[in-house]
Amino acid sequence: MLIKKIFHRIKQKGLRDTLLYVWNIGIADVLDYYKYSFQKKYKYPIGGYISAKDTIKKAKSSGLTVCEYVENLWNIKGQTDEIISELRIIGALKPCEEVCEIGPGTGRYLERILLEVKPKRYHIYEVAWDWAKYLEKKYSPAVIRHNADGHTLRYTPDNSCGLVVAFGVFVYLPVLNSFEYFMEMCRVVTKNGYIVFDCFLDESWNETVIQKWIKSGHTYPVLLPINLVVDFFKRRGCKLIHRFSKKYGCDFSDYLVFRKEE
Ligand SMILES: C[S@@+](CC[C@H](N)C(=O)[O-])C[C@H]1O[C@@H](n2cnc3c(N)ncnc32)[C@H](O)[C@@H]1O
Repeated sequence: MLIKKIFHRIKQKGLRDTLLYVWNIGIADVLDYYKYSFQKKYKYPIGGYISAKDTIKKAKSSGLTVCEYVENLWNIKGQTDEIISELRIIGALKPCEEVCEIGPGTGRYLERILLEVKPKRYHIYEVAWDWAKYLEKKYSPAVIRHNADGHTLRYTPDNSCGLVVAFGVFVYLPVLNSFEYFMEMCRVVTKNGYIVFDCFLDESWNETVIQKWIKSGHTYPVLLPINLVVDFFKRRGCKLIHRFSKKYGCDFSDYLVFRKEE
């Protein structure tokens, strides 16, 4: 893009003016621009997700499980187990027949929830088709891959799942997209069933957090207002029973656990 801009300027204003322009914006700025573009495109693809084929191959060649491999990659060693422990302690991982997960990605939570909760059916709605296919094959017959439209849990009946989860999804979906899913989570969860997800809450952010994220070069975080979220679930019979926070990116995300009341 910048090269194009420079050629365009040479054409319009001549070589001398363009050299002065490049000098003024500074070589460091030019390099920074490329570093940022590179990171955005290849290192931290926004919207897309890490490739299943590459990740599985790299995990195998490092002698690690996919979960261990991504935990090392993201510098969150042991975190999946810590979160599962916290959910077990508060009773959200009781055995039930049906579980539903939005955006399971590599399946690092799915793998553990299957072992703990032992559901007959584990519905997944994942827009990254490569991971969805991999998970369905690897965890057959419990895992059922649904055609994810990115907004609904349309193939899962009302009041059918004892546990509905999403990890690392509502931290970056557009606000209304998250609320669409919240509505669906409340619809498919059974009475006494649990809804668990993490997100960035307005009340946990301040100037320091904003500066940290800007410095990190990641601009994907989306903040949700805690009062609005809790009230939204309450109106649908789901009560906030627990919350905690864990490292996410350069800071923390907040985990919320709701239970649908009788
Ligand atoms: C940051 S990753 C988290 C993956 C996994 N839950 C974890 O914690 O390791 C977000 C996941 O959500 C999926 N995703 C993004 N938008 C989605 C949407 N609208 N509906 C369903 N899944 C979505 C992505 O493909 C990706 O697998």
